[in-house]
Amino acid sequence: MLRMTGENRGARAPLLECGSGEYSHNHKTLAPRCCFWLASHVNVRKCVAGVMLLSVLTILFYSYYVTIPLTSLVWRDRIPRPLTQCSLLASQQQAARDHRSDARLRIDAKVLVIVESAYSRLGRDIAELLVANRIRYKIEVAGKSLPVLTTLDKGRYGVIVFESLSKYANMDKWNRELLDKYCREYSVGVVGFATPSEETLVGAQLKGFPLFMHTNLRLKDATLNAASPVLRLARAGETAWGALPGDHWSVFRANSSTYEPIAWALREHDYETDGERMPLATVIQDHGRLDGVQRVLFGSGLQFWLHRLLFLDALSYLSHGQLSLSLDRWILVDIDDIFVGEKGTRLHEEDVAALLTSQAALQRLVPGFRFNLGYSAKYYHHGTPTENLGDDALLKHREYFNWFCHMWNHQQPHLYNNVSQLEAEMMLNKQFALEHGIPTNSCYSVSPHHSGVYPVHEPLYEAWRKVWDVKVTSTEEYPHLRPARLRRGFRHRGVMVLPRQTCGLFTHTLLLERYPGGRHRLDRSIQGGELFQTVINNPINVFMTHMSNYGNDRLALYTFESVVKFLRCWTNVRLASAPPLALAEKYFQLRPDELNPLWGNPCDDIRHRRIWSKSKWCGTLPRLLVIGPQKTGSTALYTFLAMHPTLKPNLPSPSTYEELQFFNNNNYLKGLDWYLNFFPPSLTNNSQITFEKSATYFDGDLVPRRAHALLPNAKIIAILISPSKRAYSWYQHIRSHGDPIANNYTFHTIITANDSAPKQLRDLRNRCLNPGKYSHYLERWLSEYSVHQLHVIDGSMLRSEPAVVMNTLQKFLKISPHIDYNKLLKYDPKKGFFCQVVGGEKTKCLGKSKGRVYPPMEERSAKFLRRYYTPHNTALSKLLVRVGRPVPHWLKDELSANG
Ligand code: A3P
Repeated sequence: MLRMTGENRGARAPLLECGSGEYSHNHKTLAPRCCFWLASHVNVRKCVAGVMLLSVLTILFYSYYVTIPLTSLVWRDRIPRPLTQCSLLASQQQAARDHRSDARLRIDAKVLVIVESAYSRLGRDIAELLVANRIRYKIEVAGKSLPVLTTLDKGRYGVIVFESLSKYANMDKWNRELLDKYCREYSVGVVGFATPSEETLVGAQLKGFPLFMHTNLRLKDATLNAASPVLRLARAGETAWGALPGDHWSVFRANSSTYEPIAWALREHDYETDGERMPLATVIQDHGRLDGVQRVLFGSGLQFWLHRLLFLDALSYLSHGQLSLSLDRWILVDIDDIFVGEKGTRLHEEDVAALLTSQAALQRLVPGFRFNLGYSAKYYHHGTPTENLGDDALLKHREYFNWFCHMWNHQQPHLYNNVSQLEAEMMLNKQFALEHGIPTNSCYSVSPHHSGVYPVHEPLYEAWRKVWDVKVTSTEEYPHLRPARLRRGFRHRGVMVLPRQTCGLFTHTLLLERYPGGRHRLDRSIQGGELFQTVINNPINVFMTHMSNYGNDRLALYTFESVVKFLRCWTNVRLASAPPLALAEKYFQLRPDELNPLWGNPCDDIRHRRIWSKSKWCGTLPRLLVIGPQKTGSTALYTFLAMHPTLKPNLPSPSTYEELQFFNNNNYLKGLDWYLNFFPPSLTNNSQITFEKSATYFDGDLVPRRAHALLPNAKIIAILISPSKRAYSWYQHIRSHGDPIANNYTFHTIITANDSAPKQLRDLRNRCLNPGKYSHYLERWLSEYSVHQLHVIDGSMLRSEPAVVMNTLQKFLKISPHIDYNKLLKYDPKKGFFCQVVGGEKTKCLGKSKGRVYPPMEERSAKFLRRYYTPHNTALSKLLVRVGRPVPHWLKDELSANG
């Protein structure tokens, strides 16, 4: 009979023991006696009563067992023990090699990856690994010529990776010499991968190298060369037993001392001879003694987990430490949510004891480690009597754990639009914490199902701040769940949001033999697979687990102890843990560029839509952005667009009127809700398109990226006039706004200010002149948006022939009905501009701040600016030709005036 642990589990066992041996021996004599007894004692009333009693008992029996998942009825041999087959575990970790060198390097910490085609699998694996480790890289498809390798006297790349070793070896002589020269001059190393070929080579020489290769082998049992100077992240001494992935391995044999193996493996055969037990070099280092170029060559791609470590080490070594990753890895394991779980899957007292024992074991390998327990107190004592003792045991040992609050009833915050309701929920949980002596000062919280964290639900952030002083949270959803390598952190309203990693355990993974995909899958993830790689690739790892992973088969204890041991066994990473607030501070010290969020459209991700308030909407987000620049006629265009029945502008802002200036300044940090409030659903009917105009978007550093993240399908409209005229108009504009510096200096003084001028003057000069460098900014917009989304308006035509401009624009926007603006606009001689026709004959012109009257520009300023803008105008003209757009007359005139 199989054994069950725990008093309660034992008590359930007889239910499955139907039919005892004793009964079967005596049934022949028992049966006639029973029939006789029944016939003499039973009448109809008793029979009915008996049937009713039986029915009630059956209902009770089923209601009890159906509410308890079947897992509680499954007998298990044993709870799995963490993996320990590693002879190195007992030994102390030694200091890892330092690849940094004192040499004066003239290389950028960037990798050039030369791939066979844009779709090759290995190329993609390489790129994904580089992205996961935030290593800068450039991908080039192998072609006739080499990409540019230098900028002035600096090497552009620290390491060059060839996806195909044979492509590298067979490069034409000229390119090869050029590349070798670059590698020698800038001390740049090469990585190459032997890719599977149809032809099986036996002892074939790699062209141009005293190196011989066997290809298409099946291998097993990999080991590392402890003496190899390349090893840093990877730790030698153990054997990765078993078959290596793939049937197309290449191995290297060399007869020169320039080569040194980094890894070996054995041939996999059904019948082994002594010769086949000879280790074969699968990864080899070329010290560069023959031609001055250092190389690391791989006998297979990155499918084998150890190769991922070795590849990162090769980059570190060959770049002289420029591409070395830190060896510190921080781990936080949250248990979300320690009191929430169905009856029959919850913790017993002995599970809590196991949790403490495992925590102590982990602390020996991961200094500072403590399980981080979240709680929704409403579910405290919601288990069977034995499980309730488990809850009590947790509270009894509360000081051994870290604690964080959840929602009182585990409700998703985005379902509450009311801050006070959320506060009340949180207060209940806080009350429970105070009554039971649970610490309330972690400043950390998570939200059920990531609800309200991202996409941001402002009431959640507000309630968190008020009730719990939350400063840190974590989510898997920013910017999206997948791909995991792109998850990032951000800060909103003072709350640091850490990216959370996935460890493969979910609320329903209770038993090892029922693990989705089988035990083998979980073990593979631990032993070099996904979970192992996650820790390698992320300096700070926040994992979420669930209470049920700590009862039942205690899969979380198995998983974390195993992966930590595997990491200790095979790598030199220094594992540690700390409370969430300390980890968040560390994270953003390492990645300050992530502090500012990048808002995406919540409706573009079905998971986001599900955890975003139903009262919010994305349908009215603008599909058209007029980006300026300032003083090119952007207000006139805005007014003309708003006259079209299909187009609707945003509601005005109380401070900046029609311009929201969301993407280019601090309004962006107010969050998406702030922006959306200017586009309420009532603003449009279904067939209308909303648009926004902020003239400072054109030259705002972050604007194209931010705009594209939220509005990837938007149409972008820029208006260009002579940059000199634009600069002068801008000067007049800020003067009339009382800018003290502009009022103190003439236009000529400002535009000709040199770099030794006072800072205020230089700043003003830059603000005045920079937006006119049109090609520079347009290129930045085109790096985010496709050329088909961009429309460039000639601002001088907008002024003189607005109906023609609006006609073309309507076609570009593909909007209907087509409006004849000749009927809507009329030249107003008094204003000197086209104005809106109102009430038949009258006109409504823009205010006096548009179309100002000021003296003409001095000739010396005009001359200076013509020269100043010549290179920019030339670049603009080239850009417009390149993207197939007409070159405006003013641009032709300016270029010919200088030519
Ligand atoms: P000036 O006031 O220097 O003449 P913006 O709206 O982007 O700030 O641009 C203001 C400029 O728009 C004005 O600069 C003016 O020349 C130009 N403009 C073009 N069409 C106009 C119109 N119909 N009414 C008023 N100004 C117009």
